[in-house]
Amino acid sequence: MMKGNILVSGGSGYIGSHTCIELINSGYKPIIVDNLSNSDIQSLDRIEEIAGERPEFFEINLCDREALNQIPKSLRIDALIHFAAFKSVNESVADPLMYYHNNLESLVNILRFCTERNIEHLVFSSSCTVYGDAKELPVTEETPLQKASSPYGNTKQISETIILDYLKVHPELNTISLRYFNPAGAHPSAKIGELPRGIPNNLLPYLTQTAVGLRDELKVFGGDYNTKDGSAIRDYIHVSDLAEAHLKAFEFMKSGKMTSNYDLFNLGSGNGYTVLEVIKSYEKVSGEKLPYQIVDRRPGDVEKIWASTEKAEKILGFTPSRGIDDITKSAWEWEKHYRKNIEKSIS
Ligand code: WQD
Repeated sequence: MMKGNILVSGGSGYIGSHTCIELINSGYKPIIVDNLSNSDIQSLDRIEEIAGERPEFFEINLCDREALNQIPKSLRIDALIHFAAFKSVNESVADPLMYYHNNLESLVNILRFCTERNIEHLVFSSSCTVYGDAKELPVTEETPLQKASSPYGNTKQISETIILDYLKVHPELNTISLRYFNPAGAHPSAKIGELPRGIPNNLLPYLTQTAVGLRDELKVFGGDYNTKDGSAIRDYIHVSDLAEAHLKAFEFMKSGKMTSNYDLFNLGSGNGYTVLEVIKSYEKVSGEKLPYQIVDRRPGDVEKIWASTEKAEKILGFTPSRGIDDITKSAWEWEKHYRKNIEKSIS
């Protein structure tokens, strides 16, 4: 029995596509809205291959408010998950206006769209970067926000404020913000995974592209942080765990148990790993050495951050089930599978 239509902005992207698979597996019908600026239309083929259903797709730039009118008013939308945003910390340092325009304009249009189409449930893709260089670790949802360490993190801080202000005059809209830590890894089928356009900003895709020989070596940004081995610490959460958490958040909203029309949750693994520990994990699961070099710190990076997962566990019933070795192994399997298919298709 179909449980409802869920509009998924950014649904052909990395986290969005993995979440669409979980939505289909749980009886929902995802409808993808994406401008394909950081994803590939073939993502829909892979979702269909894995989950047995091809989501309806609208190629829309969410910064163009009129473009959303392409979505028929007759189409019932029970909820909206808003993934679509640029999300590279260091890229936002280099091009702040691109980030402020894209991430904020698209959110404003999404909020207006929710009201125009009487959508009652919104899940917003936020980020641990709102915490900035947190003074207390692990960070909880009550940890005071520091000044964002990058324009990207600032767009997420501002977005959460925009949502809160909007909900004050639109109590009919229930919203949950999910503060992702570091999404990484790939679907266990190895048929779908992170596929950044151009040179990857994120650690795992750069690591796996190095592993398959696409990059000469991984540059480790900073070896002089105040951590066990000098490299920076992050909380890596498997993308399949993250996708499952979206279902938990959505079921919580529908349950009527929300005590107000807004809530927010950290989504992390609760464990912090240094960059060098991630490399060690890859070398363990692959049996291969990874060429890397420690270089200067990267602007916009914080030294260390990891999540308290207590609130999501207690209220959403969400417990991450995959660890760092699952992340590095699945990311590597996906990279090998993808490159093999590319070689096959061009041979
Ligand atoms: C991780 C660590 C780098 C690349 C991410 C997302 C962001 C947000 C927070 C969700 C850092 C180091 C990286 C490389 C390296 N999540 N690194 N060499 O910056 O923590 O941000 O998580 O919203 O959207 O992008 O992730 O993977 O870029 O970096 O040494 O080639 O790996 O310095 O310490 P980041 P990242």
